[in-house]
Amino acid sequence: TGAMLAQNPWNNEFGRRMAFADLGGRQLSWTGDRTEFIGRNGTLDHPAALAGAAPLSGRTGAGLDPCGALQTRLELAANGTTEIVFVLGETATKDEARALLREYRVVDLDAVLDKVARFWDSTLGAVQVTTPDRSLDILMNRWLLYQTLACRVWARSAFYQAGGAYGFRDQLQDGMALCVSKPEATREHLLRAAARQFVEGDVQHWWLPESGRGIRTRFSDDAIWLPYVVAHYIEVTGDLHVLDESVAFLEGPKLREGEPEIFFQPTMPDEHAALFEHCARALDQSLALGSHGLPLIGTGDWNDGMNRVGNEGKGESIWLGWFLYAALTDFARLADGRGAHERAERWRRHAAALVQALERAGWDGDWYRRAYFDDGTPLGSASNDECRIDAIAQSWSVISEAADPARAVLAMAAVDKYLIRRDDGLALLFTPPFDQTPLDPGYIKGYPPGVRENGGQYTHAAIWSVIAFAMLGDGDKAGELLSMLNPINHACTPDAVRRYKVEPYVVCADIYSMPPHVGQGGWSWYTGSAGWMYRAALERVLGFRLQGAVLLLDPCIPKTWPSFEIAFRYHTARYDIRVENPRRVCRGVTRAELDGRPLPGHRALVPLADDGATHRLRIVLG
Ligand code: GLC
Repeated sequence: TGAMLAQNPWNNEFGRRMAFADLGGRQLSWTGDRTEFIGRNGTLDHPAALAGAAPLSGRTGAGLDPCGALQTRLELAANGTTEIVFVLGETATKDEARALLREYRVVDLDAVLDKVARFWDSTLGAVQVTTPDRSLDILMNRWLLYQTLACRVWARSAFYQAGGAYGFRDQLQDGMALCVSKPEATREHLLRAAARQFVEGDVQHWWLPESGRGIRTRFSDDAIWLPYVVAHYIEVTGDLHVLDESVAFLEGPKLREGEPEIFFQPTMPDEHAALFEHCARALDQSLALGSHGLPLIGTGDWNDGMNRVGNEGKGESIWLGWFLYAALTDFARLADGRGAHERAERWRRHAAALVQALERAGWDGDWYRRAYFDDGTPLGSASNDECRIDAIAQSWSVISEAADPARAVLAMAAVDKYLIRRDDGLALLFTPPFDQTPLDPGYIKGYPPGVRENGGQYTHAAIWSVIAFAMLGDGDKAGELLSMLNPINHACTPDAVRRYKVEPYVVCADIYSMPPHVGQGGWSWYTGSAGWMYRAALERVLGFRLQGAVLLLDPCIPKTWPSFEIAFRYHTARYDIRVENPRRVCRGVTRAELDGRPLPGHRALVPLADDGATHRLRIVLG
């Protein structure tokens, strides 16, 4: 074929696979040597290979600083155009690579591209929004779900992390964003994730899909995401049957005392159970409490970097308390529906006790604390010098719907006051970053202050604050924060582009908060914040919540918005939704009309019909 083929036999998982690069057969020379391509004293901006007219050397093989560079030559007439086809790919064998290369040299590539575009149009076209904020529409109608599906769910790889592993909590959360547009992908992943659970109920923190190898750890939140996401998937799709799907468990060595994690390939005993049982075991193994009556944080909860807050087995987490409360109450409802009343009752009792403990030992005076160290020292408290207030302990007090309402308002006011830095356009995870403290929260302290989890803007968590503000009815703040987090708004001027430095069309995981890097984005593409941003905007700001064959509309928008529209494809039907805001409020539906007829009770609870027709839904706020 004359194409460049490459193999990396040292790679455990992909060592036998064949990668290839081709210029549609038009390559005249090539090199596998990056040093040659860039050239002595050259740079990637001005590589030697593009400066001269000399052919490339044809050097390939092991031992080079490797690259794949192909050169061709063409003449372009004045005002002429040309098309160059560059094919990159990977297959299981050399023969398959050759077959694909030959095929793509002759097929109608425009038709191939059309097919790809049609797939995305149809997937992303299930919900299309038109709001007064064009930058929001661009993200909502194309990019956020593209980022979620293509990068997070399929590739699991990007510039900052090219791993390919599944993170137990990660793709489960991504799946929540796909429940409306691509529920079959969420369903498939629920079963995939459930199959990474040990018979004891804990799960692999991450795993490599090719071999199944992964790590068993003491992270405390991982397993709980399974029931939490299953409950959400069922709420959106109404697909209760998923609970009966039979899924296998894993078996493997248990962690020895003091051992934080082990990496191994688990075996598959002959033990299967319904997805419901997987979820139930996940909850049952999360019920241990510490001395304050709060759940044990283990070697970390959602925040991976806080791995030494509770590694001795005594530290507790307030965030986890809210999260567990939400999972227990959601799942107790599903258990009741299956007649598993005893379990449901036990979970509800546990949840009720959690709320009391959270209010008793979690409240710091002006906001909620984040955690307790093994020795009982609080974290995320006014008594700390660093990490005095952490956003996620506040936002989840609201999201869980567990907290005392008056305190929840104070907690979010504290987020607004201490963590949202409007001048810099940043919403911090916590403040101040860890730096000098004698406390040892874990590897988070190894990040420079203001970078990633260490008190930077961790976008994933910042979006939870958008959801919390919207749930409190503050559409102005939710809208303001959403627009602050929108990557497009970080790259509107040349100065902003130079500061932000990453792509404006995908969300990045973090933005640095300390000089000299204030405002610089990091870890772009491979971040769960894309899916959460989608959900925050669609479900909480625009208020579009699909519940099986019913659509609930409860927008919470900025007062300045006069109206917005949503076009929703429901199976064969189409719903053109228009929300009007004549009195310029944030929230409160006063009128709802379906095809010109008022809906009973003036509630925006819309029965959906899969009838091939186009329906008009008019909602008035006031
Ligand atoms: C990374 C991890 C995710 C974790 C987050 C916060 O994004 O993939 O699982 O929750 O960091 O530490």
